[in-house]
This record gives sequence, structure tokens and C-alpha cells, in this order.
Amino acid sequence: MKISVMGAGYVGLVTGATLAETGNQVTCLDILEAKITELNQGKSPIFEPGLEKLIQEGIRTGNLKGSTDIEDGIVESDLTFICVGTPSEKDGSIDLNYIKSAASSIGRALRHKEKKHTVIVKSTVVPLTTEEIVLPILVKKSGWKREQLGVGMNPEFLKEGSAVKDAQKPDRIVIGSADKLSLRVMRSLYKEYKCPKLECNPRTAEFIKYASNSFLAAKISFVNEMANMCNSWGIDFKEVAEGMGMDSRISPLFLRAGAGFGGSCFPKDVKALAAAAKSDNVESKMLKATLEVNELQPQIIVQMAEERLGVLKGKKIAILGLAFKPDTDDVRESRSEVVVKELMDKGAEVVGHDPEAMDNFKELIDVNTAPSIEETVEKADCVILMTEWKEYTKINLKMLRNRMSGNVIIDGRQAFNPEQIEKAGFDYRAIGLG
Ligand code: UGA
Repeated sequence: MKISVMGAGYVGLVTGATLAETGNQVTCLDILEAKITELNQGKSPIFEPGLEKLIQEGIRTGNLKGSTDIEDGIVESDLTFICVGTPSEKDGSIDLNYIKSAASSIGRALRHKEKKHTVIVKSTVVPLTTEEIVLPILVKKSGWKREQLGVGMNPEFLKEGSAVKDAQKPDRIVIGSADKLSLRVMRSLYKEYKCPKLECNPRTAEFIKYASNSFLAAKISFVNEMANMCNSWGIDFKEVAEGMGMDSRISPLFLRAGAGFGGSCFPKDVKALAAAAKSDNVESKMLKATLEVNELQPQIIVQMAEERLGVLKGKKIAILGLAFKPDTDDVRESRSEVVVKELMDKGAEVVGHDPEAMDNFKELIDVNTAPSIEETVEKADCVILMTEWKEYTKINLKMLRNRMSGNVIIDGRQAFNPEQIEKAGFDYRAIGLG
């Protein structure tokens, strides 16, 4: 199939590269020249395991290319995916300006095309966006008859760090179609994928994405609340999670307690859904509580440091992990940002480290960083683990003990083995460990 992808960001690149891999002719479109140049040189503009290799393969076979010529890219294709960003407004509601402008560009380009075209929204958008915003813009700007257009919504469920794998082997595919053309096109595009598929209308597809992310975020906040209780009652939450996860209705996944959830999706999506519900006068108490618990978790980490070190002013605290989770350089809504800021406000001497995210983090906060783990922990009174990179969970405890001047370790991800840590002479505190 000839496919154009509007927006060469994280979702657009992964979608484009994986669809090119399965034999489609894909053109990734973006207004940013630098991104497209990199793409055409076989370089990935973002850090995502496996993506660069896939891009190189796509460029080599000729199935993948980038272009800034939006009109040409649309006209030359049969199907366009909208993969542009949907940032937040100040009140948490979703900003649809990029969606509207993508729909306008596609509509205008279609004036130079005849017959039929299908447009599928992949960006995360609040219910009714595809039917009530994208579709009318497409019709108006193209001057086409409604019947010539296929319009649908096909949410992505990609996790940063494993996005390529998630796109190649999805758990499920949700096909939200507003007409027979888009249904036919998506059925054909995904016919070789063996996972369960759900066919529904676009608003349901849009909501499945929000409900799924909100449920996972709520699950994390719920386990964090349980873990905070464990801290008071001398219970190890890891064991509790193990016991809970044995119930197939609960599942062992997403039961990791700690500093809370970050990233470009959960915080933004929960806020956007809450704002959308509010604007339609629907109560969303669970969403509110999910966000409140998430705000609390970094504060608990700072409190743990104060309990152990007393006044934080002048204390050297090493932060291991600045990315919002391992295997990414993404620092958006990272819980480390909240912890680092709070510690610095209290006068602590903070040094941060991350295998991939140091440069990005420094754009958020002007914090000292060190090039190696060894230098980061040198003379530290306390080490706080914020992101469970393998480099940290497998840290050489002897080195750590020798380099630090204090012996306090705070584990914001319940990622260390408490027995080994205590045996090595550390004073160990973790969220979820009494
Ligand atoms: C999330 C969803 O998992 C994807 O299904 C979805 O497609 C994506 O958002 C999106 O909307 O695009 P992602 O944000 O990449 O993916 O990362 P997750 O692996 O879900 O982790 C999110 C945050 O939750 C991280 O900060 C992580 O540390 C935290 N987390 C995760 C926990 O605190 N505990 C857990 O048990 C799991």
C-alpha cells in the first residue's frame, strides 16, 4: 500500500518504519527539514531501540523515505496516517491545533488528487475529534464529496523503549472506522497481523486509548498507595504485588510501586480525559485521585532523605536516573525532575546521572551531572535511585560503599535487592519496603 505519515515524531517514525518493513511504500512527512534529512540519511531523529536499524533497512529497500513536500506526499499515497503531537493546554485539556492544521494540509493536498483517499488518525485525541473536527475540515478543504473519503481512528499502544517491538507484534489492533472505505483499507493493511482486532466507530477507538492509559496510570497510583501503607506496617510490597499478580484478573504487570509515573503519555492523557469529562459535566474522581497520588510519591522520597540526613542544606545527594523510565532519553514529566527540584530548593548539593537522558534533563533543570556513575556517587551522603536502568540495579556495591561518604540509599523503584544492600553496610529505604 502507498502510505504517507504526517508527523515524523515518535509515533510517526515507528509507524512508518514498521509499515515499510512489511512491504508498504511509506513516506514520512514533516515540516522540519533537519528531521527529514536525518531520516533520509538512515539516522533516527529519536532514541528508540531498533528504530535506526529499521529506518536504514527501509531506506535501503526504497520502501521508506522522508519528505517535506506535504502535498506531493499526500497525493502520491492512498492512505495518510495523522501522527502529529497533541500537547496539553494550561488546564490539562488537549491542544488540537496540530491536528487541525494536519487535516487542513491533507484536505488542501487532496484538491490535486482524484478518486479516493483514506485518512486515519493515530495521534491520541479525545472522543469525537476524528468525526467532528478532522472529517469536516477534510471535506471543506478538499472540496471532495464525503463518499470519496475514508476516515478512521487507529490508536497506537506503543511503549517507549519497546515501541518497535510493540508495533511489529501488537497485543491488539483497534480499528475505528467512520465508513466502509476506511474499514476496508485498515482490514487490508493489518490482515497479516495475528493479534486480536476490534472494529468499532472512531469515538470508541479514541476512548479505548484514553481508558487504557488512564486504567494503567490508576493501577500504578493504586499500587503506590498500597506501597505507602506497607512502609508504615513493615510489609514488603514486592511480595504483596507477587501475591496480587497471581490472580489472573489482576495480572502481575504494572504492579511496580515507586516514585510514580511520568512520560509523555500517562500524565498528559489522564489530565486531558479529566478536562474533557469536566467540560461535559461528568465527574472523574478516579482520574483526580490518580494524579494526586502521583504527585505525592516524589515528595515521599524527599521526606525519606530528610528522615535519614536531617537538614538537607549542604548534603551531597546523587540521583541515579533522570529519564522517566529506563531505555529512553525522554525526561518529560520525569519524577526525577520533581525530586531534584525539591532537593535543590532545600539547599542539597545534587549531582545527577543517566545513561542517555542527561542532556535533555539539563534543559529542564540546571543541575550538576557527572559523566560516570563512579563520579556521581563520589563523596555522596545519600544515593537516590529514580530510574531502574540495568547499570544501576547491577551496581558494584563495594565501589559504591568506598566512594560514598555516607551510607544512605533510597530506592525510588524498589529495584535493589534489600538483603544484598544491607549486607554491604548501607542504610536502605525504599518506597514499599517497611
Ligand atoms: C504508555 C503505555 O504503557 C502505552 O501502552 C501507550 O501506548 C503509551 O503510554 C502512549 O500513550 O503512547 P510509556 O509512557 O512509553 O507507555 O511507558 P510505560 O512503560 O507505560 O511507563 C509509564 C510510566 O509508568 C513510567 O514512568 C514508569 O516508570 C511507570 N510505571 C510503569 C510504574 O511506576 N510502575 C509500573 O508498574 C509500570
